[in-house]
Amino acid sequence: MVSYKELGLVNTREMFAKAVDGGYAIPAFNFNNMEQLQAIIQAAAETKSPVILQVSKGARNYANATLLRYMAEGAVAYAKELGWEHPQICLHLDHGDSFETCKSCVDTGFSSVMIDASSLPYEENIALTKKVVEYAHQFDVTVEAELGVLAGVEDEVSAAESHYTKPEEVIDFATRTGCDSLAISIGTSHGAYKFTPEQCTRDPKTGRLIPPPLAFDVLHEIEKKLPGFPIVLHGSSSVPQEYVDMCNKYGGNLPNAVGIPEEQLREASKSAVCKINIDSDSRLAMTAAVRKHLAEKPSHFDPRQYLKPAREEMKKMYIHKIVNVLGSDGKA
Ligand code: G3H
Ligand code: 13P
Ligand code: ZN
Repeated sequence: MVSYKELGLVNTREMFAKAVDGGYAIPAFNFNNMEQLQAIIQAAAETKSPVILQVSKGARNYANATLLRYMAEGAVAYAKELGWEHPQICLHLDHGDSFETCKSCVDTGFSSVMIDASSLPYEENIALTKKVVEYAHQFDVTVEAELGVLAGVEDEVSAAESHYTKPEEVIDFATRTGCDSLAISIGTSHGAYKFTPEQCTRDPKTGRLIPPPLAFDVLHEIEKKLPGFPIVLHGSSSVPQEYVDMCNKYGGNLPNAVGIPEEQLREASKSAVCKINIDSDSRLAMTAAVRKHLAEKPSHFDPRQYLKPAREEMKKMYIHKIVNVLGSDGKA
């Protein structure tokens, strides 16, 4: 059993309480490799922003669970080396799919876990979430749960509205599960293709897709039911057009990629939304920079030559999100 406290990590409890009070959101950036981790820590240390390092089950398999734990411990030491005296870094399991996966993360140094039982019937979601909460809380590990199904091309869900979180369920769900935060569905979705062109309108000048707006009415109803309770938004990459264009210019093929407009995320951050998940934007920044570098310097084959600019691009993107979208700079 490895406690996250020994690794210098923190859980989400205090971060979220301050974020809800202060009207900002904590960035939850997914990572799978060293360059992403370096960029996240540099961005958080430079802006003095609390940060959640998010690891999916797939990322754990890709990078190796043991190595990841040491990377998170290393991230805390690295943040201190960068002059961040008291780093507020959380290591969080993203989309935990079973009690066993969550337990394994609690037992190996995670300070927060998500149990995503949102695809199960309501009562089964409650039962599984409660089981994870009961285990995790013994070790002061915080738990995120999910209610509602994120729509999107990835899930092959077409009628987005019918899967929004039902505000009338949230009090019962939060009370009976004891979860520390709740991921809700208000129209965000995972990946770089969040909406089909048919779900969007087109900007007449640029021809770019304009996605349908988030359901702020649902968010506000949820806030009224659970005042001050930490709300989480998944699927919140904005899919910056500059990265999509850069990928496409240098040999990529990402037609009609579209994300959540940053103004809407900025608005959400000011509400009870206190954690915003971003993964795809990091993938896009990295891929765009690597493609550009290799296209312009075809003789390069040392990975450091193309991963360095990729890391710089990700760091720039993370700082932009922290400062201009989530407003978490200076809060750590
Ligand atoms: O929500 C999912 C995250 O973007 C993680 O994706 O399972 O491909 O690592 P992944
Ligand atoms: P994006 O695909 O929009 O980056 O969402 C990531 C996410 O929700 C991770 O859980
Ligand atoms: Zn997610």
